[in-house]
Amino acid sequence: MIFMKYDIKNIKMSAGGKKRIEWAEKDMPVLGKVREEFLNKKPFAGKKMAACLHITAETANLARTLKAGGADIVLCASNPLSTQDDVAAALVNDYKISVFAVKGEDRKTYYKHLRAALAHKPVITMDDGADLISLLHSEFKNWAPRILGSMEETTTGVIRLKSLEESGKLKVPIIAVNDARTKNLFDNRYGTGQSTIDGIIRATDILLAGKNVVLAGYGWCGRGMATRARGMGAKVIITEVDEIKALEAAMDGFAVMSMSQAAKIGDLFCTLTGDIRVIRKEHFEVMKDGAIVCNSGHFDVEIDIPALAKMAKKINKNVRNFVDEYVIKTRNTKTQKHKNIYLLAQGRLINLAAAEGHPASVMDMSFSTQALAAAYVAESKKKLENRVYNVPADIENQVAKLKLKSMGIEIDKLTPEQEKYLKSWEIGT
Ligand code: ADE
Repeated sequence: MIFMKYDIKNIKMSAGGKKRIEWAEKDMPVLGKVREEFLNKKPFAGKKMAACLHITAETANLARTLKAGGADIVLCASNPLSTQDDVAAALVNDYKISVFAVKGEDRKTYYKHLRAALAHKPVITMDDGADLISLLHSEFKNWAPRILGSMEETTTGVIRLKSLEESGKLKVPIIAVNDARTKNLFDNRYGTGQSTIDGIIRATDILLAGKNVVLAGYGWCGRGMATRARGMGAKVIITEVDEIKALEAAMDGFAVMSMSQAAKIGDLFCTLTGDIRVIRKEHFEVMKDGAIVCNSGHFDVEIDIPALAKMAKKINKNVRNFVDEYVIKTRNTKTQKHKNIYLLAQGRLINLAAAEGHPASVMDMSFSTQALAAAYVAESKKKLENRVYNVPADIENQVAKLKLKSMGIEIDKLTPEQEKYLKSWEIGT
């Protein structure tokens, strides 16, 4: 009998988790093809892997794919609130994959689980937010030279890793999976766009039509959510710090203003910036009674929750699942003595905390890109340098091609004449 280490909520939850994994699998045809290829080629034979990802049905299918490729893989959560406990149970019970993750785990347990994943002695790692890499540069720095490569799934992680690279201290080769077009153009835009709204609605049951919805950040995630919220009848307001993105939002037809202006009129606020303290005390001070505030960025730092807590004379926890009511004394009003501000999912990413994260169909592309990038690392003849690399273009093309095929979409091919024309400069007016 193989002795497997794990730390999950309850292994008896596995039956429900298995059904979810199988349901997601149906919408992940590209990953299915990659799995078939891995079963034949075994790119990870004899290699240990650790993946710090949101433990969802989609991640389970990625882990199964890597295992099919010969990897000895362990998983830990990349966020304390995003674990699907039934999926974790099925991974352990039905797929014999070690998992260290419990939904709602405290910070100490979260880090204990990360350490357990690194104690597995992986030579390839995957991160969603760069937490494993961060440990590989502190407590586990002696292990860092053994890492052949590490994949990074999210914008926030890539930002952290590029600054590590710029400081000259990066000790591990990184593949910036987030920056692949087969990831961010689809996962960030359509995945975050839809699942963030899904999380907000599941948590609050509010009607979006007619509401002033304030979105901080107009990257791919903000754009995706803005378009979807507008489609549901919301009046969408964008706040930005980047002139070009602000202009783009304005010309896409959204209202664009500073957060100080937007704070006075917003009914619902969502941060999607990857930055810190985007909604602060001065903004809470002018918000309307009943304003709802949430975050869809990777870390829970975008909303200044300590400031909100300090302003509150009372906090009513869990007035609904994932909704905390902050009762704030109001100033300068004769009639009203207090107002309520509602914070969702403790400021953690609402789409994974209150909903199920991005739908499988879009994770199909992200995780096929992940899996193929990992195989590229495993099969590299020469060890990669300690740099942040882009995903090789042929991997992007392969994933896009397979996805189109699975959708039954055919596209045109360049004719020899067109190919020649595109390579020439002689033909003009
Ligand atoms: N990130 C966003 N949605 C996700 C999902 N469904 N699974 C894993 N990671 C995710």
